Amino acid sequence: MIRDVFFKEAATERNAWKLRSVSAGEKSPKPVELKRKAPDLKSAEYVSGQAPVIGPEWGMTSVHVQAGWYREFRLVPSGAGRFCIETKGEIAVKIAVVGATGEVGRMMTRVLQERNVRPGEISFFASARSAGGEVEFYGQKHRVKELTEESMRERYDYLLFSAGAAVSRQFAPVAAEAGSVVIDNSSAFRMDPGIPLVVPEINGDILRGYGKGIVANPNCSTIQMVLGLYRVHERYGIRSIVVSTYQSVSGAGRNGMNELEDQMRGHIAPKKFVKQIHLNVVPQIGSLLENGFTDEEMKMVNETRKILRDPDISVWPTTVRVPVLYCHSESILTETRKPFDLQGIEAALEASEHVIFSRDMFTPLDVAGTDLTYVGRIRAFDDTRFLMWNVADNIRVGAATNAVRILLKHGELN
Ligand SMILES: NC(=O)c1ccc[n+]([C@@H]2O[C@H](COP(=O)([O-])OP(=O)(O)OC[C@H]3O[C@@H](n4cnc5c(N)ncnc54)[C@H](OP(=O)(O)O)[C@@H]3O)[C@@H](O)[C@H]2O)c1
Repeated sequence: MIRDVFFKEAATERNAWKLRSVSAGEKSPKPVELKRKAPDLKSAEYVSGQAPVIGPEWGMTSVHVQAGWYREFRLVPSGAGRFCIETKGEIAVKIAVVGATGEVGRMMTRVLQERNVRPGEISFFASARSAGGEVEFYGQKHRVKELTEESMRERYDYLLFSAGAAVSRQFAPVAAEAGSVVIDNSSAFRMDPGIPLVVPEINGDILRGYGKGIVANPNCSTIQMVLGLYRVHERYGIRSIVVSTYQSVSGAGRNGMNELEDQMRGHIAPKKFVKQIHLNVVPQIGSLLENGFTDEEMKMVNETRKILRDPDISVWPTTVRVPVLYCHSESILTETRKPFDLQGIEAALEASEHVIFSRDMFTPLDVAGTDLTYVGRIRAFDDTRFLMWNVADNIRVGAATNAVRILLKHGELN
């Protein structure tokens, strides 16, 4: 039974509505996002994806259609659990993935397909090292091209960058100048006051009217932390956060994973990490700064304030690398301005988009491969401070999925 349907604007005159009908058990022609909490860890975040199946067995209470690649769309309930999706003005978008052969780039390519994004044209770029190789997209092989400034002078609707900060600094402004929207996974532009730093569930609204230019994707540890805290901030106001991270080696890209795997086979000297990571825990990620924090830690401080739009929140991070392949975990102590009770915190977490709150305990092995942030082990001794445990897939929630969600949100709002 559909009780709550979000309607977009009605048709404009240029194109006629196309009528798509979906009913229980049928496959939807376009991604349909059913806002429903997964009852257990392994169930899907979306009933949508490549082959969304809709049915009363999902206990639907609300339905939300991704803007996808239609200028406009709406859902029309047609009784007995059936509804129609009306869409209008199909857009043939042109997309490119820069850093397509890396951990994040490959995952972005996969998430685009999972979300049923079907661009009219797509290109894949990497360095000269990988140029000429192949990337598969919807079963078709595409040749990897070498990234050059010339190639970035061509206009794309969306360029998904994940090739490191130096590459972004050189090439992203060229692409922005050419009129493309660049969604950048690196740290190059995050703290630039003119550049939106976006976690769509929290501040996606700032993409409205942002026609072209660079949009920054936050640091992976920051994204999962703010997703677990933004509703708490709305209700109680966050004064301070003390966070210790347990970050997987994939956070350092393909080379980070290779280093752990090589060390598991036999000792090799640390290259990517400052100490041996196999059978060890390394409490330094990034370079040490003059204030004693690392640059990874300062990202969590500064980006949290920018995303939550509150420069007064103090953040006290210790970022730690652990010998885990996928998923970052965080132990977070939060101090609020207003007093809370734990039911209120739990209600805030229940109301947080793409967050699963449970009294169960989550580990990286439970969570890897999902698009949700898992929060558990909530505890408090008093009414202004509480602790939580937070786990999310750093390559997906912390990078690729957030980037694709930015793309979809931008498409929806512009
Ligand atoms: N891993 C994470 O959890 C995570 C999370 C958030 C953000 N990020 C950010 O995402 C970016 C990529 O991370 P990753 O983990 O995917 O790294 P990665 O696995 O090392 O991949 C790096 C990618 O960048 C490409 N590249 C390197 N130098 C290039 C150049 N000069 N021109 C064009 N392409 C070049 C590489 O291509 P080749 O194959 O040709 O070398 C490869 O495709 C980084 O900025 C990172 O900070 C990563």
